[in-house]
Amino acid sequence: IQRTFIMVKPDGVKRGLIGEIINRFEQKGFTLLNAELMNVDRQKAEYHYMELKEKPFFEELVDFITSGPVFAMVWEGESIIEVSRIMIGKTSPLEAMPGTIRGDFAFSKAENVIHGSDSLLSAEREIANFFDPLSICSARDKDYPFDERKSV
Ligand code: GTP
Ligand code: MG
Repeated sequence: IQRTFIMVKPDGVKRGLIGEIINRFEQKGFTLLNAELMNVDRQKAEYHYMELKEKPFFEELVDFITSGPVFAMVWEGESIIEVSRIMIGKTSPLEAMPGTIRGDFAFSKAENVIHGSDSLLSAEREIANFFDPLSICSARDKDYPFDERKSV
């Protein structure tokens, strides 16, 4: 079982897509372990996107992600890193397939609604950047998730 970091970006929050995105992950049988609407400071944003530091659009990327509140989440599930990337769709709105979150809602490559971790290592780093580890464990009550979802 894996955990991943999923974030509704400022454009997605402004457009009222938080509920839609939570719905898709719940309906897929994944378990929400923590969530918070928050502002991201530059230090946190630069750490989050450290792998893109040399890209020409890095400053623009940090400006965007710090431009308004994001909805940060930790989700858990079977192969969730790979599956969530499929649910999210390709980075570019021209390539994202209909039925994926970006395919259905994104029309810009820079402002593409949602982020999802792309590996186990980045998931761990990104979760730790946004959440206190103790706050995540507290959601893992013995009765949570419900039985039918546990059996997937
Ligand atoms: P994330 O889930 O957000 O990490 O997207 P990704 O893994 O599909 O793409 P990648 O990690 O390669 O790039 C991270 C983010 O940088 C993208 O989601 C875009 O928001 C942004 N980005 C990518 N290309 C461009 C670009 O050409 N210009 C700008 N301004 N932003 C870009
Ligand atoms: Mg990425």
